[in-house]
Amino acid sequence: MAENRLIIFDTTLRDGEQCPGASMTARQKLEVAKQLARLGVDVIEAGFPVISQGDYQSVREIATQVKGPKICGLSRCLPKDIEVAASALEPAGSAARIHVFLATSQIHRRYKLAKDEEEIIQIAVNGVRLAKSFVEDVEFSAEDASRTEPEFLARILQQVIEAGATTVNIPDTVGYAVPEEFASLIRYLFENVPNIHKAVVSVHCHNDLGLAVSNSLAAIKAGARQVEGTINGIGERAGNASLEEIIMAIHTRPDFFGKIEIGIQLKEILRTSRLVARMSGLAVQRNKAIVGENAFAHAAGIHQDGILKKRETYEIIDPKIIGWDQSELPLTKHSGRAALENRLRMLGFELEKDEIDNIFSQFKDIGDKKKFVYDDDLIALVEGQISRI
Ligand code: KIV
Ligand code: ZN
Repeated sequence: MAENRLIIFDTTLRDGEQCPGASMTARQKLEVAKQLARLGVDVIEAGFPVISQGDYQSVREIATQVKGPKICGLSRCLPKDIEVAASALEPAGSAARIHVFLATSQIHRRYKLAKDEEEIIQIAVNGVRLAKSFVEDVEFSAEDASRTEPEFLARILQQVIEAGATTVNIPDTVGYAVPEEFASLIRYLFENVPNIHKAVVSVHCHNDLGLAVSNSLAAIKAGARQVEGTINGIGERAGNASLEEIIMAIHTRPDFFGKIEIGIQLKEILRTSRLVARMSGLAVQRNKAIVGENAFAHAAGIHQDGILKKRETYEIIDPKIIGWDQSELPLTKHSGRAALENRLRMLGFELEKDEIDNIFSQFKDIGDKKKFVYDDDLIALVEGQISRI
């Protein structure tokens, strides 16, 4: 794969679905997976097959029906998990990826796993070797990597790559990292894992401090070439990194990120977001970047005037490229004459200056009383104006 190609790994159907209240039926997951394929993600993490019969079936169905992306199943470094994942992924053939994970931080080693460093390395290596006996494409995640001693992290990554891992993932499992520090960790790994170039370096960030996207972008800038996240940022606790935000940041700022190639069909972004919201039952907040209802809505009079003169005055992305019809200029008490005149023209009214003056002052009165001034309100105002003549 080209050095500048960024692999987009979507875990909406695994980590995203772990979000309380987000679980989906097998049929819903299949619909989302098909849409993710249309969006052009490189890897779909379809589930965690060992956790339930339903998850097993759903991963198997996706592995059977969805073509294009790699289909991935999560697994602990345990023989039973890996065998079940391999069986669920079997219909995907060479497009199957097994993703094994094991916690590496001191707090997890001591309290959760009660294992020392050497035992952890051995379990990880055995897990990767067993996964490799089923599929060529094996990802290893060092759970809680951002709180792991960097020297130990480097040591275990060297060993799992030696054992056959083709991707090594550095999760910020508890959303603890901050961008500069996380980027330094990625650079440290490039400098201190001698065989690192035999694997793709991946990152997987959680949003507990609201930094998941920033941390992911900092890691990409430092050389990571796979990024994991979810649509709409759904996921455990405060969620995962939002893929649509990462993709659009890279697309919008090539001057900063350089020429990073991504295989995403941008025009499918909004449709995918809406489908995930419907299927997961998790509504998107209005002011969510890229896909929120207000992401391309301009309310202030000065902004509306600017947009009408030249869209780029207040918009850094053309909303049409990601599937929106156009920018929105909702009419509120903040709107100015330019937006009012524009809307009146769209409604088919070409009025004289003094008529617009009259309507504008009545329009402001309505705006003071309700959140939005609707087209019907304007039509009533125009009719009132016209009937006076
Ligand atoms: O957050 C995390 O550490 C995970 C791993 C399983 C990759 O979701
Ligand atoms: Zn996670």
